[in-house]
Amino acid sequence: MRAAGSPLAMLLLGCGNMGQALVHGWRQAGLDLSRLLLVDPQAQPLADAQDLTVLAKPPEPAQAQDVVLLAVKPQVLPDVLPALQPFVAPHTLVLSIAAGVSVKSISAGLGGHQTIIRAMPNTPAAIQRGITAAVASAGVTEPQIAVADQLLQAIGKVRWVAQEAQMDAVTAVSGSGPAYVFYLLECLSSAAESAGLPADLARDPAVLRQQVTSPHGTTEAGLDVLMSGQGLAPLIRHTVEAAARRSRELGKEAGRNGAREGEARS
Ligand SMILES: NC(=O)c1ccc[n+]([C@@H]2O[C@H](COP(=O)([O-])OP(=O)(O)OC[C@H]3O[C@@H](n4cnc5c(N)ncnc54)[C@H](OP(=O)(O)O)[C@@H]3O)[C@@H](O)[C@H]2O)c1
Repeated sequence: MRAAGSPLAMLLLGCGNMGQALVHGWRQAGLDLSRLLLVDPQAQPLADAQDLTVLAKPPEPAQAQDVVLLAVKPQVLPDVLPALQPFVAPHTLVLSIAAGVSVKSISAGLGGHQTIIRAMPNTPAAIQRGITAAVASAGVTEPQIAVADQLLQAIGKVRWVAQEAQMDAVTAVSGSGPAYVFYLLECLSSAAESAGLPADLARDPAVLRQQVTSPHGTTEAGLDVLMSGQGLAPLIRHTVEAAARRSRELGKEAGRNGAREGEARS
């Protein structure tokens, strides 16, 4: 167990988009990373933290950590969890950001470990503007919640939910939400073109939406509704048409009023 104020012994598994965003945020927040172990198969230095060593696999001999943070893809977890058991003592906080993977299955993969926090960030985390929802298993202590809160605040705001079942709603709203907003912008752009603006004035956010949309994932399921024939595109097109129509009417009314005032003055 670490003494109060001493650096956390922490193993971060996965240094992709989210792992790097976390490390970047921790540095910005001034966290002492002298006992941080980074593991990623590429073993490449991180763009924002060239001085930190990235190991291709967990080091040997294994030492129990204060925190083991799981930032690998959900489908990788079943394979890696058993190998992490030597790093996990009863006091170790396991913090997972893997989408959709339950506390129960993480616990099972770690031989029944009890202190687990599951968190769900969203893409604005890459620029430290994310919203992360988190839920703690029954075995997690208040000081561990405070540690997790501090670690996750490095990528934005943190909100704690009481029940794990609420994480599905979080995933559907804050996880997939950026894609819905990008699609709204896309619809506005194409409605702008339909209303007569040149294409270069109507920027295309489709690429951003595609970046957030994993095949067969939650965002794709939500977008299937939003992008259907009865979905957002026709609604936005009619909305923009109505507003443009009203703008033309107001112009005509102003013209008529101006003409009347001109006649009255003459
Ligand atoms: N990105 C988001 O907006 C977002 C939002 C919410 C939750 N999440 C969750 O965050 C997690 C990470 O997402 P991400 O976007 O950062 O994915 P990512 O960019 O693919 O990063 C995952 C990293 O883990 C590495 N990796 C693969 N196997 C490994 C192993 N055995 N040990 C250590 N590292 C390993 C990958 O290396 P290779 O590429 O070489 O395989 C990759 O560098 C996922 O579980 C995802 O569900 C992401």
